[in-house]
Amino acid sequence: MNFKEQIDPVKLPQHIAIIMDGNGRWAKKQGLMRIRGHEKGAKAVRDVVEGSAEIGVPNLTLYAFSTENWNRPKVEVDTLMKLLVSSLKKEITTLQENDIKLKAIGCIETLPKKARRELEEVIKKTSGNSRMTLTLALSYGSREELTHVVKEIAEKVASGEISAKAIDESVINKHLYTQNLPDVDLMIRTSGEQRISNFLLWQLAYAELYFSEILWPDYRKEDLFEAIYNYQNRERRFGKTSEQLS
Ligand code: FPP
Repeated sequence: MNFKEQIDPVKLPQHIAIIMDGNGRWAKKQGLMRIRGHEKGAKAVRDVVEGSAEIGVPNLTLYAFSTENWNRPKVEVDTLMKLLVSSLKKEITTLQENDIKLKAIGCIETLPKKARRELEEVIKKTSGNSRMTLTLALSYGSREELTHVVKEIAEKVASGEISAKAIDESVINKHLYTQNLPDVDLMIRTSGEQRISNFLLWQLAYAELYFSEILWPDYRKEDLFEAIYNYQNRERRFGKTSEQLS
């Protein structure tokens, strides 16, 4: 089935978030070092970003490195950071040519200086692009993000900038790292694992969840189109009944 042709362009998810999982297992299956899985994973990133832009998805967020990933062996962390730098250097032209804006969410200040500098440069250079926003979650954890939000709002209440009574969902949204992004419509996780793993807990409140058995390095745009087609054939009720929707 050609899923791309079946996709309804007026019902596209406005925000897709992906947990790119299975790099290590992919490498192990081929008898390779884990890092080879990450390298192949970076190629999958390229294909999926291209596919998202091609069909007109306005926001794509990728879980590239979690706060928990710092606990991996140093050599793997270092190589992942190097891979981030080389991918950014390599892909800046493609981002520009395709009018894609790059953003990052997470504790960016904890990244190695070189990665931070490269990231900031690409973010700055692509800031005027508007076809699609590609957000990389780097050193990201949703509980850390929510803790950060609570602290910021508490400080504002303490200083009298806002009153506790005025705190509502929109105030919280404005303090999230994802402040200018819409809620996630579709969350995809690869590699057969069915967990959220501290990813966008607030933003996923009404997201449709889609789990694929494919290991991330093998994931391609056609697989993304299949996930979108599946999403479009679900009924999103947001707490209402089917009858109310029709
Ligand atoms: C999960 O697989 C993947 C990661 C922790 C890193 C994701 C990184 C990439 C896809 C490569 C580069 C990305 C960019 C944005 C340039 P895993 O290692 O947990 O796999 P496993 O569960 O099979 O061990």
